[in-house]
Amino acid sequence: MLARWSSWGFVAFAPLALALRDPQTVYDALSAVLSPGSEISLASDDTYQKDFTPRYNFAQAPTYSIGVTYARDSNISILTTGRGHGYTTSLARVQGGINLDLGKFDSIHVDSGAKTMTIGGAVNGYQVATALQEAGMEIATPQCPCIGFAGASLGGGIGPYSGLYGPISDSLLSVDLVTADGRLLTVNETDFADLFYGIKGAGFNFGVGICFTFRIYPATNSGQAMNADMTFVGSQSESVWKAVEQLAASQPKELAFGLSVRYSPDPALKGIMIAANFIYAGPQSEGKALIQPFLDLEPQGVNISTVDWKDIPSVANGGAITNYGCIPGVYYIPYSLNLYQVDVPNLVGVVNYMSEAIGADAVLQGTSIVWQQYAPHGFQLQADDSSAFPYRDAKAFVQIDILAAHASQAPVLTNFGRELRDLLQRGSGRDQLDVYVHFAHGDEGPASWYTAERLPKLVSLKETYDPTGMFSWYNPAILATTQHYTV
Ligand SMILES: Cc1cc2nc3c(=O)[nH]c(=O)nc-3n(C[C@H](O)[C@H](O)[C@H](O)COP(=O)(O)OP(=O)(O)OC[C@H]3O[C@@H](n4cnc5c(N)ncnc54)[C@H](O)[C@@H]3O)c2cc1C
Ligand SMILES: *[C@@H]1O[C@H](CO)[C@@H](O)[C@H](O)[C@H]1NC(C)=O
Ligand SMILES: *[C@@H]1O[C@H](CO)[C@@H](O)[C@H](O)[C@H]1NC(C)=O
Ligand SMILES: *[C@@H]1O[C@H](CO)[C@@H](O)[C@H](O)[C@H]1NC(C)=O
Repeated sequence: MLARWSSWGFVAFAPLALALRDPQTVYDALSAVLSPGSEISLASDDTYQKDFTPRYNFAQAPTYSIGVTYARDSNISILTTGRGHGYTTSLARVQGGINLDLGKFDSIHVDSGAKTMTIGGAVNGYQVATALQEAGMEIATPQCPCIGFAGASLGGGIGPYSGLYGPISDSLLSVDLVTADGRLLTVNETDFADLFYGIKGAGFNFGVGICFTFRIYPATNSGQAMNADMTFVGSQSESVWKAVEQLAASQPKELAFGLSVRYSPDPALKGIMIAANFIYAGPQSEGKALIQPFLDLEPQGVNISTVDWKDIPSVANGGAITNYGCIPGVYYIPYSLNLYQVDVPNLVGVVNYMSEAIGADAVLQGTSIVWQQYAPHGFQLQADDSSAFPYRDAKAFVQIDILAAHASQAPVLTNFGRELRDLLQRGSGRDQLDVYVHFAHGDEGPASWYTAERLPKLVSLKETYDPTGMFSWYNPAILATTQHYTV
């Protein structure tokens, strides 16, 4: 499995000794062809895990072109790493390949006048938020500050301000992409427009994104937002879901909210708690009025504050996302699905089932159902056929987050995750399972990640730009084109 490394250039590694190629042969061959600034290391080297000197130079791109063509001609699989937060099980198919680590491609250039921002392929969400806050600008950012901003945008990228601006990919203006044949293309609305469509929602299928330019927006409410945290007991679940249903019918664009349904050892919470978080891009008084139906349920631990927009990830839910989402090395079993309606009886049933199951088997305690609901406004600003991002009409993006204390728990937790997904799917409002590609487990298949309607176009783009399936490790649009690469 690939973890997160900060390095520069390429990292060749071989967990399977002498898979198809001797690592030293790969090392020698790459050393001979790459520019002197590139760093190459073997998995066995000390330098492999260590941070290299930061550099801020997009001119390294030709090195990546050479690396990509080298990998292609040697039939060695290659995987790009942005910030290493991708977790789909489909990544485990990469064994004995080349890790193309974008590492220190982390520069940010903000042009407030032109309302654009240009970033390197490995910049994270917090770096973006900090730079934009300082410039009096904003953009939709993911909930987790540590994930790759570019990486997130390649699959859409959703977060609290998506209610205002849609998925992050809707703000993409241009990408410098190294394709499978080693070309460095500037891809935008006019040049390679077909590829631009595919990059916005299925981007990891098509190449290595070195440099990304986004549209940015003047800060809402002077860059300040309301953050409201509160906790409900499991027995209030029906009232909470009813309030969710009500809000879903008229959610203003400035309001985003999330629920986390999970086990609590606190006897007062009777086994299950529902932590709620509301973010409002406006004055606190307005935000509070909107969430009054939830406050009327007399939740515990109410904490309402006004914060800098950039700090939302670190304060929301008491900082839970920053605390747990930024520490690598967890044993994480992810499941997810999109919901197109709020089916209150089904949701109450799922919470009751979860409570009973956890009561009967303590191993299941590390399970949460995480609900994200962004306002439809932002998602509807662009036409449905404007990009590969397919889920503009989802009411909620739901994750079943399971943390195992030990690998031996994986089989039982995997079953539980799948069971919860099936139960939630019954109330989804759709027959087929739809899953936001970045939240997917990896077992769902291309039609669930990209929709059946979009697949023919994506498959045709794959045939044009990645005919041998070099970039087919991360929930790919075509599953079976990678046979002749080292696996
Ligand atoms: C704790 C946590 C919280 C999350 N919260 C959110 C959220 O709120 N909203 C949301 O939308 N998503 C969220 N995600 C999912 C996130 O969008 C994906 O994990 C995304 O892949 C992160 O990008 P990365 O660069 O960190 O990952 P990586 O693992 O480095 O990359 C993931 C995939 O994208 C490819 N890739 C990455 N960068 C590039 C590039 N520059 N060019 C070409 N290919 C590239 C990689 O090859 C790989 O296949 C979350 C994930 C975690 C672990
Ligand atoms: C790579 O795979 C192709 C197709 O299977 C084959 O023709 C070619 O000889 C292989 N190249 C190397 C260097 O192994
Ligand atoms: C797309 O990129 C090309 C090449 O850099 C540039 O000439 C063109 O103006 C760009 N188009 C848009 C819409 O930005
Ligand atoms: C309430 O939230 C703020 C951040 O918005 C935080 O600084 C503070 O510690 C929280 N208070 C409690 C009691 O948790």
